[in-house]
Amino acid sequence: MANPFESAQSSSFAIRPSVVVIFGATGDLTHRKLVPGLYNLSVDGHLPTHFSLVGFARREWTDAELRASLLEGVEKHSRRRKIDQAIWNEFASHCHYVVGGFRDPAAYEVLKSKLNELDKAAGVEHDRIFYFATSPNFFELIAGMLKDVGLLERGREGYREAPRSRVIVEKPFGRDLSSARELNTALLHSMDEDQIYRIDHYLGKETVQNLLVFRFANGIFEPIWNHKYIDHVEISVCESIGVGSRAGYFDKAGILRDIVQNHALQLLCLVGLEPPVAFEADAVRDEKVKVLRSVHRLNAAEVRQNVVRARYLAGSVAGEKVNGYLAEEGVDPDSETETFVAMRLAIDNWRWAGVPFFLRAGKRLAKRVTEISIHFRSAPHTLFQGEDLELLRPNILSFEIQPDEGISLRISSKPPGPRVRVQEVNMDFSYGTSFGIEPPEAYERLLLDCMRADPTLFTRNDEIEEAWDLVSPLLSMWESKEGQTPPVYGYESGTWGPKAADELLQREIGRGWRRL
Ligand code: BG6
Repeated sequence: MANPFESAQSSSFAIRPSVVVIFGATGDLTHRKLVPGLYNLSVDGHLPTHFSLVGFARREWTDAELRASLLEGVEKHSRRRKIDQAIWNEFASHCHYVVGGFRDPAAYEVLKSKLNELDKAAGVEHDRIFYFATSPNFFELIAGMLKDVGLLERGREGYREAPRSRVIVEKPFGRDLSSARELNTALLHSMDEDQIYRIDHYLGKETVQNLLVFRFANGIFEPIWNHKYIDHVEISVCESIGVGSRAGYFDKAGILRDIVQNHALQLLCLVGLEPPVAFEADAVRDEKVKVLRSVHRLNAAEVRQNVVRARYLAGSVAGEKVNGYLAEEGVDPDSETETFVAMRLAIDNWRWAGVPFFLRAGKRLAKRVTEISIHFRSAPHTLFQGEDLELLRPNILSFEIQPDEGISLRISSKPPGPRVRVQEVNMDFSYGTSFGIEPPEAYERLLLDCMRADPTLFTRNDEIEEAWDLVSPLLSMWESKEGQTPPVYGYESGTWGPKAADELLQREIGRGWRRL
């Protein structure tokens, strides 16, 4: 199995000819992320020699209309602002469109003919990657239809290790433990586990991958990566955007399902996991599952004490006045849905005994920033005393995942001068200055990994189930609406959330969330 940290150009990773079929080709994700990602892979020379994209959707479009619409998406959302016309033209000439309803068997026959035609024209058997960029209501249906038409075959026995047809499933994967199980069982009726690539785009982010390299390629951090040296961990996934045009989905989901169950818990896993036996898909995922299993499950009283939920009120973000959540278009005026959640979790194992993990995620906060900070214990003995004593603060190692990817270590230092004083300074590493390039988008990496049949950065079913199991007590308490249900606090848009979220930390560590 592939090493996830090897470069895409490595000889051991000749990517097989591939066709990516996108269900939901006229949708938002395709325009904002998938096609800009594929275009940038093409600019970087990472796509295989034989590559095609087939869009599948209901709208009566031609190939030319699809290409024009994809170009618009690339122009707006590509990380490279200036489009290279020659590369785009070449890329676009490999984009095709199939019109069809997801329930229409004839449309899948047309798709099949199209895929066979592409094989014939190129004189190769392309691997087939089906991307489910649709509402989750269609996942099971599309999988079944693909199977019925014979498009989910694994390929010739012994022909190669990985199945020829693979499916990328977008989140949300279920809306609770039982629906996630049902969806999984349904998908397994149509394909094998190793054909399913459940995407969590946070795993494709450079700094998230760097967390593993940082921990396991440096000898100096692992010995102190435990309860003896670490006081607590803070994980923040903060967004300044509101619910936007996604109220229909979000109002039924809430931030716990939208961000915490997947992205935030994945970050927690990468901080918390034991060294995997190898950088192989199952070895890494086995360790993540162990972390999730070790997270203490909160009982009702603990949910009330350790979890804060809230929703945004009117306010202003970046100087612009914005509505409160309940006034957003498409939100039920009686909605109880949370747009912010903060919680204290504990990992009950030897490494992390007694170390609180504080997680928060929210929309309409003061700014967009995702960060993990590791707060070390204070120096055991205070040698430097006097007026600057209050400045003697513990070391913090922080991983900024976005928007400015980098790692920084806060240390105490002596400013120049005749007196011994102590001042905090940062030792910084930033992607921009160290590597001189802008990191690729998460979707680029993940699309490429699926093309080379490497599932390491995709979530396995047991991870998803454990994560749902972990948030289940919160969901059932919030949804029960009985007398003891904790309140949904309000917070002004453009702030850092409700006071109760700071109090959650205050009680235990004597101060609120780290200022970001
Ligand atoms: C998605 C959520 O998974 O992640 C969105 O559904 C959220 O609500 C988005 O805005 C955040 O992604 P990123 O990469 O901008 O942090």
